[in-house]
Amino acid sequence: MAQLLTIEDLRLLAKRRVPRMFYDYADSGAWTESTYRANEADFAAIKLRQRVAVDMTNRTLASTMIGEQVSMPVALAPTGIAGMQHADGEILAARAAARAGVPFTLSTMSVCSIEDVAQNTDKPFWFQLYVMRDRAFIERLIDRAKAAGCSALMLTLDLQILGQRHKDIRNGLSAPPKPTIANLINLVFKPRWCMGMLGTKRRSFGNIVGHATGVGDMTSLSAWTAEQFDPTLSWDDVKWIKDRWGGKLILKGILDAEDAELAAQSGADALIVSNHGGRQLDGAVSSIAALPGIVEQVGGRMEVWMDGGVRSGQDVLKAVALGARGVLIGRPFLYGLGAMGEEGVKLALDIIRKEMDITMALCGKRDIQDVDASILVKGKA
Ligand SMILES: Cc1cc2nc3c(=O)[nH]c(=O)nc-3n(C[C@H](O)[C@H](O)[C@H](O)COP(=O)(O)O)c2cc1C
Repeated sequence: MAQLLTIEDLRLLAKRRVPRMFYDYADSGAWTESTYRANEADFAAIKLRQRVAVDMTNRTLASTMIGEQVSMPVALAPTGIAGMQHADGEILAARAAARAGVPFTLSTMSVCSIEDVAQNTDKPFWFQLYVMRDRAFIERLIDRAKAAGCSALMLTLDLQILGQRHKDIRNGLSAPPKPTIANLINLVFKPRWCMGMLGTKRRSFGNIVGHATGVGDMTSLSAWTAEQFDPTLSWDDVKWIKDRWGGKLILKGILDAEDAELAAQSGADALIVSNHGGRQLDGAVSSIAALPGIVEQVGGRMEVWMDGGVRSGQDVLKAVALGARGVLIGRPFLYGLGAMGEEGVKLALDIIRKEMDITMALCGKRDIQDVDASILVKGKA
């Protein structure tokens, strides 16, 4: 096997090991994928200032996100059906995150359930909530996250209607997946993945099946999810959820300064500048391009984080330099997971940590708390 030195190396290995349907589900964006591409390209356009002859000893990346200690300001983003990239994927990713000293976020649309992840890990994690029409189900989900000891609730605001991903339609991605001949043949070439799946019972939406009224199996699930994302979601609902939860609240999916203003007024603890990894509004600006304006608008009233397009430690530093208190990664850890399970996620985090550490030093900084716009070449932000 080639040496695995970059997130791109992990992507290529995941592509070999994960069935095409699930690999494509991760590695795709909405419609023309222009926003998906812009997320990465806009990071590449930002240039760092190289500094020399400054003391580079005793460096630290340690920080806090909503008051929680983190070994570096990077968290694992909520991703649906991570348990299809690798058997028991959410549990493995949560364990890797805990070992690396960074937060893990469990999606509403996970394979392993909230209770399952809590039972199989030692560290509290964050729970991401989608607002469904069935409000009684939402109330139960919030209560379950509380009972499982989740230390923050992350409310996603940018997916009440689904952006279309052509690859998912062409691949027949549904619940349950379409057993087309092409899909079945593809499985023959993924023996490692198949063995993993045969060895686990976790193969459906753990937070939903058996918990939502009328959803007892995969067939009823498909119909339920298709109609449940609630397009009437409003800031009143945000308030209702904040009160019902009563703990730390993170709002995910803000890309516009006007929405950031409303988010700041909502009393939430953090917002995430995000376009859902280019999976929703195709044609929207990249997250890194939206970040500075939102940081300015919020003016310190809450923490501002970002996600989308982070593929290296250099990218994390650029986001921190532009005012992000923290950064989330989605695909980078999914590639690690698909490539090598728990060790792959740990490797993805180690790769990013090392890149960040050395890059910070080469920019003349020793402490992530001192990283600001002075490490960037002016005019490129
Ligand atoms: C395969 C996949 C599934 C996702 N599922 C969810 C989800 O269930 N809930 C959510 O809030 N965001 C979800 N997202 C968006 C991520 O949380 C995050 O915003 C995005 O992946 C960041 O971009 P990046 O992948 O370039 O790091 C998903 C992203 C991917 C790639």
